[in-house]
Formats: sequence, C-alpha cells, structure tokens
Amino acid sequence: MNVVILAAGLGKRMRSDLPKVLHALAGKPLLAHVLEAARSLKPGVICVVYGHGGERVRAALNHADLLWAKQEPQLGTGHALAQALPHLDPKAPTLVLYGDVPLIRTETLQALCSAAGKGLALLTVELDDPRGYGRIVRSRGKVRRIVEEKDATAAERALREINTGIMVLPTARLKAWLAGLRNRNAQKEYYLTDVIAAAVADKVPVNAVQPGSAWETLGVNSKGQLAELERIFQRGVAAALMQDGVTLADPARIDVRGRLACGRDVAIDVNCVFEGEVTLGDDVSVGANCVLRNVKVGAGTRIEPYCHLDEADIGARCRIGPYARLRPGATLAEEVHIGNFVEVKASEIAARSKANHLAYVGDASIGRDVNIGAGTITCNYDGVNKHRTIIEDGAFIGSNTQLVAPVRVGAGATLGAGTTLAEDAPAGALTVARARQVTIPGWKRPAKAK
Ligand code: UD1
Ligand code: CA
Repeated sequence: MNVVILAAGLGKRMRSDLPKVLHALAGKPLLAHVLEAARSLKPGVICVVYGHGGERVRAALNHADLLWAKQEPQLGTGHALAQALPHLDPKAPTLVLYGDVPLIRTETLQALCSAAGKGLALLTVELDDPRGYGRIVRSRGKVRRIVEEKDATAAERALREINTGIMVLPTARLKAWLAGLRNRNAQKEYYLTDVIAAAVADKVPVNAVQPGSAWETLGVNSKGQLAELERIFQRGVAAALMQDGVTLADPARIDVRGRLACGRDVAIDVNCVFEGEVTLGDDVSVGANCVLRNVKVGAGTRIEPYCHLDEADIGARCRIGPYARLRPGATLAEEVHIGNFVEVKASEIAARSKANHLAYVGDASIGRDVNIGAGTITCNYDGVNKHRTIIEDGAFIGSNTQLVAPVRVGAGATLGAGTTLAEDAPAGALTVARARQVTIPGWKRPAKAK
C-alpha cells in the first residue's frame, strides 16, 4: 500500500518558529510518531507532503524509505494529496494520515485498511462536541458525503459523527477524483473530503470504521493540545509498565521519552524521567525525581532520589545517590557506591569501590575495593588536553585529595588527606603531599590598638 502523510499546514496556533510536526511528544517529533505508525504497516511507499518550514522537517526526519512532496501554496487537503500522487503505486490503496495526529494505533489502521477492500474507508468518531470538524452525512445508514463545518447547514452541524481525516482510498481512481475537485466553498480550498461524494457517484463503496479509542484521532493545534496528548501517551506507557509488573508510586507522575525496559520487581517513585534507551534489571528501585538517559542498571541496584544519570552503565547491587551525577562513559561494576554530590565521567569503577560524598571522578580507571574520600578531585584537564588517572585495587584516597593527571596510585596505596598528587604513588605505601602542620609556641593574637 501507499501511505501519504499530510504535513504542510502552518500550525499558526503553536505560536512557534518550529514547524508544528517537529514539536516533541514523548521526546520525539509528532511526525516521527506518525512515521512509526506508517512503518508498522510495511507500506511500499511513504510520502510526506510538506510545506511551511519543510526543509527543516526534511532535515530532521530524512530517511531513505521516505518520499517527499512539496505543497506550495497550501490550497487544501485535496490539493495536498494531489502533490503526492506521482509518487504512489496506482495498483495499491492509499492511506492518508495527518502529521499532527500522532497517537493513531497500528490496529486501528489495519482495521481501516481491511474495511476499505477495493473501495474507501473513513475513520470516524462520534463526538459530543463536533465543532470544527467535517461531518459525515449518511442516508439510509450509508455514508454519502462529508460536509465541512463552515459549509454545513444547521441540520448538518447537528450531526455528531465526524471525519477524523484518516482514510483509505483506491489510488487508481484518485487522479480523476482529485482533478475534479473545485474550491467553491467557504474556505476556497480543494477539499479531500469532496472525494467521498465523487466515489459514491461512481458507485465505489465507502465504509466507516471507528478507532479503539477516540484519543487516537486527536490532533495537535496548540500547546495545550500538545500537553494533553503527552499525558494521554504517558498514561498508556505507565499502564503498560504496571501491566508488566512494575511498581509505580504514581502512574500520573512518570515520563518515558524513549524505551524503558524493566526486569521483575522494579519500583519507581514519583517524578522520574526516562529518556532514550533505559534498562532496569530485576529488583531495581529508582527514588523520586531522577532523570535517567540511555542508562543500564544492573539487578538489585538502588538509585536514591535526585540523581541525574546520563549514558552510564551501572552494575548490580550498586547504591547511587541521593544527588549523584553520572555522565557519559561512567561504567560501574557491582556493589559500587556513588553518593551525594559525586560526579563521574568517562571512568570505569570496579567492584565494591566507593565514592560516598562530594567528589569528581573524570577520565579515571578505578580498581576494586577503592575508597575515595570526600572532596577528592581528578584534575583531568590541563586546559588543553584530558589525562587519565589510574587508581589500583584496594587504594585509599584520603579526603580533599587532588589527583593531577596523568597519575597512578598503586594497589593498596594510601593517600593522606589533603594530598595534591602530581607524581605516581607507590603500591602499599602511605603518600602524603601537604604542608606540615606547625604550632607556634607563645604566639599571641594581636590586640586592638588603644
Ligand atoms: C480536515 C478535514 C475535516 C476533518 C479534520 C480533522 C478537509 C477539507 N477537512 O479539516 O473534515 O474533520 O481535518 O482534523 O480535509 N494540510 C496540508 N495542506 C493543506 C491543508 C492541510 O498538508 O493545504 C494538512 C495539515 O498539515 C494537517 C491536515 O492536512 O495535517 C489537516 O489540515 P487542517 O487544516 O487541520 O484541516 P481541517 O480544516 O481542520
Ligand atoms: Ca485540524
């Protein structure tokens, strides 16, 4: 089949310089959601009709499987579909989707396609408040035509069955039907919806199908609607997670902007955001107000509240946070503890090592059973280049130590608190580099001059 996605509309009510279909829902552009639905049907052709700001849309979503048709100026939905026509396989039916209707489900589209057969199928819904939509006009139960709100009589406006805009059409007949469209209507547009009456006149069957849920067909015209659809989407994600056995403290307070895969007995407290690909192993718990982006978390690990974890790989049975920051390339083995106000970047930390308070570990390789004291800093950057710090197994790094990289701390070494380590520290020994403490005998505090 062919899929045509109409996405040339201006989206004025978004009040934004970004083209409407590039606004993000669950972390990715509206149009990307529609493309995902389209691709799930494995069509032979996907053609996006673009217009306003279209070059940005193409640049953001360009992919080898897409064809692009420019519509300029925008003269209506019928005119939009006509721009795509040269790209379509006339032997296959054509499914029309809207670039700003992102929640449409594969099952609904499959049902629509089977209802079309060799004719047409319209996706319609009954609304208590049908204002603004095209109305489905039936006689003796059969769909006859669609009338746009602005062209409708009072009696037609009272009809509650509306056109969602999503439809399947026989491509071979489209050329003639679209060429026959006239713009003698209230909006002076070439309405795709007028094709229905043409099909009925040509005795081509027209069926109507309803979606599983009405929200699938909601469009985004404003920031308010964008936020509404975001909540609908997130409710669906939360329900699916709970269905899989995940404990959510509050399903209304989780945001997944990508894919979250969970093992058994995972618990997630309120206000957590998951971005990209996140994997949580069995028995993982995530405290309140954490942000995890492209992170893997091993079984039994506890993430305490207020952590920001980005492109990190965390082993099993670790303790992270509260207030920890893991940056790209942080790779932790099992039972590692990263405590409050500790930042780790591009570093491997082996089993059972701990940095419990206030530290910066960057570009470092840290062995097993290492203790990193509060206030420890790897001085990895000389202003031009980054250098590595190596801390071998069992080392003890005293508090407030600066490790001036490149530098190595041998296995089992101890660094005294306050050390500024500029040369390698030998294994098994105590190294201290700080001014010796002196006490001045007989020293008197100065007194105020009389
Ligand atoms: C359209 C339907 C209406 C339906 C409603 C559902 C027509 C004439 N009317 O109305 O029956 O109830 O959708 O939301 O089809 N677009 C283009 N080029 C254009 C005009 C529109 O690509 O020249 C795209 C828009 O980007 C959008 C879609 O087509 O994705 C619908 O356009 P919109 O202006 O929202 O259509 P409505 O007038 O609301
Ligand atoms: Ca609309």
